[in-house]
Amino acid sequence: MSEHASKLYPAPEALARAAHVPGMAAYEKLVAEAREDYEGYWSRLARELVSWKKPFTKALDQSNAPFFKWFEDGTLNVSYNCLDKNVEAGLGDKTAIIFEADDGKVTKVSYKALLDKTCQMANALKAQGVKKGDRVVIYMSMSVEGVVAMQACARIGATHSVVFGGFSAQSLRDRIEDARAVMVITADEQLRGGKQLPLKAIVDEAIGLGGCDSIKSVIVYKRTGGNIAWTAGRDQWMHELTAQQSTTCEPEWVSAEHPLFLLYTSGSTGKPKGVQHSTGGYLLMAALTTKWTFDLKPDDIFWCTADIGWVTGHTYIAYGPLALGATEIVFEGVPTYPDAGRFWKMIQDHKVSIFYTAPTAIRSLIKAAESNEAVHPKKYDLSSLRILGSVGEPINPAAWEWYHEHVGGGRCPIVDTFWQTETGGHMITPLPGATPLVPGSCTLPFPGIDAAVVDETGKDVPWGQGGILVVKKPWPSMIRTIWGDPERFKKSYYPADFQGKYYLAGDGAIRDEKTGYFTITGRIDDVLNVSGHRMGTMEIESALVSCTDLVAEAAVVGRPDETTGEAICAFVVLKRPRPTGDEAKAIAKQLRDWVGKEIGPIAKPKDIRFGDNLPKTRSGKIMRRLLRSVAKGEAVTQDTSTLENPAILDQLGQAY
Ligand code: WT7
Repeated sequence: MSEHASKLYPAPEALARAAHVPGMAAYEKLVAEAREDYEGYWSRLARELVSWKKPFTKALDQSNAPFFKWFEDGTLNVSYNCLDKNVEAGLGDKTAIIFEADDGKVTKVSYKALLDKTCQMANALKAQGVKKGDRVVIYMSMSVEGVVAMQACARIGATHSVVFGGFSAQSLRDRIEDARAVMVITADEQLRGGKQLPLKAIVDEAIGLGGCDSIKSVIVYKRTGGNIAWTAGRDQWMHELTAQQSTTCEPEWVSAEHPLFLLYTSGSTGKPKGVQHSTGGYLLMAALTTKWTFDLKPDDIFWCTADIGWVTGHTYIAYGPLALGATEIVFEGVPTYPDAGRFWKMIQDHKVSIFYTAPTAIRSLIKAAESNEAVHPKKYDLSSLRILGSVGEPINPAAWEWYHEHVGGGRCPIVDTFWQTETGGHMITPLPGATPLVPGSCTLPFPGIDAAVVDETGKDVPWGQGGILVVKKPWPSMIRTIWGDPERFKKSYYPADFQGKYYLAGDGAIRDEKTGYFTITGRIDDVLNVSGHRMGTMEIESALVSCTDLVAEAAVVGRPDETTGEAICAFVVLKRPRPTGDEAKAIAKQLRDWVGKEIGPIAKPKDIRFGDNLPKTRSGKIMRRLLRSVAKGEAVTQDTSTLENPAILDQLGQAY
């Protein structure tokens, strides 16, 4: 434990008085309410936060566990809840989205305008033949149009699957094929850090790879006007399709269990899994966690810096803030352009009051501020801030303290929110008007979430002892299944180890001996977290060995990295003699580019180490624990007597 770990930051008094959850007694009361009448608790909140077309009569159906159903006989529409409802409540002229482009140009979109755009887009989708239940892939950068595309799908009951704009053609193809999508919505290009980067060209390439015959049309948002290829009959400009459409579109009223979206994420095998989310339970948690975790009030300016390609951008950009009628920022660019003061300048310019970002971003901005005074947050007026958030990976206490002091001026609570693509919303997090904070701890479960730390047999371990993080009761926004692979869903999340009773998060955790606060100790499976991006080691290994001209065998592990949290380290055996020096450097670059093409730039290994072979036990198992030590540059303390070829440890010592 670090020197900071015992430091406690109580909720600021003024906040504790006025917050949605005002103080620990209020928190405890909610926890007790959920404990005493679990379904009653969630039903009450589902009625308070969600508008139902037809009210549900039953909260939770466990008859086909672990395929749990929530509010199933209720009907609703997410887009109605995010847009029409706010317009009907008199918020039509309120700004829903403040869009800031890469070049700094600002566009404000009111709730009424967002509703109009969404209806026009929804009508355009229908005119293209998209029907309820069809899958639509969205491959766009951060834009109002991206949010509109998601909302429009929701409006007509189409299931969207957003693919992060940094994924390669191959990854995009795999997701289109797995989802059997009927349409891709994309942009001509994206603008990031002053550079024009392709999107439509990658869609063309993905479809060209084959297996995408389900795609009937490609809708293109004109962002840059850059040169793109055009397939007549298949490709359509978004502005041409929507211009003629009516600004009204009756929402498709769907069952609460209707799949709102799929989002592909990495697991412990080579194949990403399509996490399927529901409509009703998901919307409830999106709205509720946005409200309580960020203490969101009508006058707040909310900014979540995530991309809509990740779950954070779904729950805390596309849905949660809009369901509450909030004003939020959508930012196209990157934190370091035109300089590393961009975030601070935007907070100042837009008077952001709630700011939610990832530890990686904070760590890289600390570095930048330390080497250049001009981009230090103290150079900006950040007095509008009242709450800060962190997400995606553990935040180290030093980064926490800096964020608290220099960004939050010592007065803003930091909510360190633990959750996952699969959980749909926050699971373990402080509530800013209640929970005393400890840097590096995500503190306590969100009220109603039954999180626990258990051993391999599912028995609770005592506080102070590390174990496996599980959730004992189903919750409304949980993953419903893995698209097309219910068996994998059961095996991954409800394993027989716990008699199929507990949700397995895939993380280790430990609870503080005195407070019971949770600290996440990292993944217990073969999943890495690089800059808050989730990557499967097997996925990267498959990409490497698919370079059949060069690679005979590969093993990938993570190692700690100061800025990115974890870094990808690949151990590679080539089909040719082991390279050294400049040759090794050149091949390492070639392999990085290969992985970039197979998966996306985020998956490029930071270190590549070449060996004549890989360290294996006599039974042929790769000694991954040993590789992790080598990757860290630690002395190898493991027993290497079973190693077939101890000499390779020296070879693997050199990283390229
Ligand atoms: C994994 C989930 C949560 C949305 C973005 C990432 C790690 C996430 C925290 C946190 C420590 C965290 C876990 C988790 N993680 N938040 N506050 N503290 N670790 O979603 O890509 O599904 O990744 O990110 O390891 O399992 P994801």
